[in-house]
Amino acid sequence: MVKKRIAKRLPKKTILLCLSGSIALYKSCDLLRDLKEEGADVFCLMTKSAQQFVSSLTFHALSGHPVYADPFSELTDWSVLHTTLADKADLVLICPASANIIARLANGMADDIVTSTVLASRAKVLVVPAMNDNMFAHPVTKENIAKLKSIGYHFVEPVKGNLVCGREGMGHIPENQAILESVCSVLSRK
Ligand SMILES: Cc1cc2nc3c(=O)[nH]c(=O)nc-3n(C[C@H](O)[C@H](O)[C@H](O)COP(=O)(O)O)c2cc1C
Repeated sequence: MVKKRIAKRLPKKTILLCLSGSIALYKSCDLLRDLKEEGADVFCLMTKSAQQFVSSLTFHALSGHPVYADPFSELTDWSVLHTTLADKADLVLICPASANIIARLANGMADDIVTSTVLASRAKVLVVPAMNDNMFAHPVTKENIAKLKSIGYHFVEPVKGNLVCGREGMGHIPENQAILESVCSVLSRK
């Protein structure tokens, strides 16, 4: 059977996929493949916690680029890593976004490769929270999300689902298809 050719929706787009320490991280492996299939060039950045969940090797192999996890490591030619990455991006996609990374971003922290790069970038930012229902419902998390929305960060809202703690609740990461649609929608806007 001949496969129908569908036009790619993300050609010539550079996406920084920022991965933080959530159990939902394994789903970002497939998301990365979906983004690449749409024509995007994807560079992965990982927090220290993220590396506990899935090895950087997986993201290296799937993206075809080295994974950035240490702001003090050098590129092949001399340049500052986080600003070089920040300037490359059309979109910074933080997926999954832990309660902790949301809090750090909402407070202007720049204490690792992810937060430094987001702060240095003028690209659009799309955040995909994934966490326990109580963490998501906490007033501080709500306030942090509201603050980031007020400065123009886009969000894909979590859904109700089975959480790793054993309960069903709000905070579950949405399906990759919904995240992909949001990426295309955010990048199509002026
Ligand atoms: C098994 C396990 C699963 C976790 N899942 C989540 C999660 O889904 N969302 C979240 O916000 N934190 C989760 N955490 C806690 C974070 O990993 C922790 O807050 C960490 O400091 C986040 O660091 P980062 O934001 O720098 O990646 C989990 C921790 C463990 C041990």
